[in-house]
Order: sequence, then structure tokens, then C-alpha cells
Amino acid sequence: MTKIKKIGVLTSGGDAPGMNAAIRAVTRTAIYNDIEVVGIRHGYEGMINGHFKRLKSHNVSDIIQRGGTILKSSRSEDFKTEEGRKKAYDNLKEEEIGAVVVIGGDGTFRGAKEFSQDYDISMVGIPGTIDNDLYGTDYTIGYDSALNTIVEAVDKIRDTASSHNRLFFIEVMGRDAGFLALRSGIACGAEAILIPEVRRDTATLKNYLETGYKRKKFSNIILVAEGDETGGAFGIVNDVKDDFKEYDMKVTVLGHIQRGGNPSAFDRVIASQMGVAAVEAILDDQKSIMVGMMNREVVHIPFNRTIKHHKDINRRLLDIIDILSI
Ligand code: F6P
Repeated sequence: MTKIKKIGVLTSGGDAPGMNAAIRAVTRTAIYNDIEVVGIRHGYEGMINGHFKRLKSHNVSDIIQRGGTILKSSRSEDFKTEEGRKKAYDNLKEEEIGAVVVIGGDGTFRGAKEFSQDYDISMVGIPGTIDNDLYGTDYTIGYDSALNTIVEAVDKIRDTASSHNRLFFIEVMGRDAGFLALRSGIACGAEAILIPEVRRDTATLKNYLETGYKRKKFSNIILVAEGDETGGAFGIVNDVKDDFKEYDMKVTVLGHIQRGGNPSAFDRVIASQMGVAAVEAILDDQKSIMVGMMNREVVHIPFNRTIKHHKDINRRLLDIIDILSI
């Protein structure tokens, strides 16, 4: 059993619905085990600047259902420097914090790995990003909520698209990954998707649109991940518009609406499971790991592995899009 008597918790990188549920779970599990909890505000910036606030059980009441993060978030450039990390360490030592639970994405875990290598502070990660692009976990907190937001929006666009025989290119988030576009594409019955993991030349898309038109498929929804090499939804429209004068083409960029809103039940549950698991990992003297969910079970993955490996999309889902969009 650990000798640690006080832990910190922070959220870093892009916020995601369900982060609050994870903060609540971490706080209450620690208190349940007689460990004090300190909320660190603005991610690693708060560690560097000593923005700490003791969290009691009532401080995390009424937040399980709220989007965003009560601790606020940031992407810290200073934490990438040795000087920044040293300042952060001195602050943690002064506060007698022996471990920190970091909730975020791969940038967050890169920072946590470096820090735990240099200093005697345990760092335990919880995957929180709408992108779902972390190796070692089937799901990240926020992904399911963002998917539901996308599906709701695309369903509405579909109504107007079919009323006017329009072709919509809808851009969803995913700077480096197409998980959101792929899964929401299936859920919305999208005619095609464009994602960074798959090189699809515009000729294939043009061909699809041409045959679709011949078969009297006059309205289409194409989901485009923002990181797709075509340059997002506007990029692809520029490529195809001159060849399809018969189509009335529109672009919708869903943007940050995907990051907000109440977390889904699924995200609240995994955030609670991972929050409990993260504190239990600290109790077990784990030092540099991410907790994740694989096949519905909690797993521990060393930061090294989750950072080094790339999580691939499920290629079978691509076939499903093709089969079902005939
Ligand atoms: O949270 C991940 C993500 O949503 C990416 O898909 C997106 O490119 C990025 O964050 C945008 O982040 P920000 O709004 O912080 O610039």
C-alpha cells in the first residue's frame, strides 16, 4: 500500500464531456481511502503556477452531468521545458502532493511520462478526449457524447439536404484521427466518409457521386474529418464542385459544439470507472500509467506504450459504410 497522503487532479488539453464525472470519481475515491485531494487549475499551467485548491466531497457535487471541466484546461508550453517542470515539482513538494491524476489526451500523457521520469511523483492518466485516438483503451471519455452531438446535428442536416436535393459536406473534429467521422458516419447513414487514416483520392469520391446521381441519389451526406488530407470539408468541395454542376453543394463545419454539452450515460459510467481505477492504481504504487477500458474491463497501460503506439481504426467499419451506402 502507498504512503501517499495527498494527491492532485488536473485536466489538460481539449476538454471533453465526462471530465467532470472523472474529477468527481477521483476526488471521492481518494477521500474514501483517507487521501486528501487537491484540484490543480488550468492543467499543467496550474502545477507550474501553484494554482491548487483542496477538494472535499461536496466540491464535486452536482457536476457528474456537466460538460467542460470545473478545473479548467490548457495546453501548456512551459511544461515542455525542464524549467517549467522543475517549478511544478517544487510546488507539488511544498504542498506535499505525492501523486497526480491527469485527465487528457496523448500530449497530456507525454508530459506526465517525462515528469514521472525526472521526479519522484506518481503520475496516473485517465484518457479524456473526444477524438478517441489513444492506444490502449477502446474508449476515451467524451467520445460517445461527441458522437451523439454529431448524430443529432447530422440528422437535422439530412432533413434539409433531402428536401432540396443537396450534397452536404459536414466537417467533424479529429485533427489526426477519423474515429468520430467513421462511427458517426455509420450512425447517420452517411454516403461516404473522408478520414486521415485512409487515402481516398478524389477520383473515387467523384466516381461514387456520379454513379449515385445516375441511380437518382440526389442528396448525400459526406462526413469529413478535419484532419483529412483533402483539407477538410471546404478543401474537398473545391476539388469536386466543377465536375458536379448538377449538385447543389453545401458545407457545414460542426466545430466546437462537438466538445460541449452534458456527457452521455456511457461517458459518465466509464469516467466513474476510470476515476476509481486511477486512485486504486496510486494506492497500488503504480507510477507512470494510463488506466483504460478494453473489452469493458479496466486495464493499466504504461505511458510509454500508449504514446509510442498508434491506435488504428476498425477497418471493417469502412466496409460497412460502403456496403450500406449503395
Ligand atoms: O480535443 C481534440 C480536438 O477536439 C481535436 O479534434 C481538434 O483538432 C482540437 O481538439 C481543437 O482543439 P482547440 O479547440 O483546443 O484548438
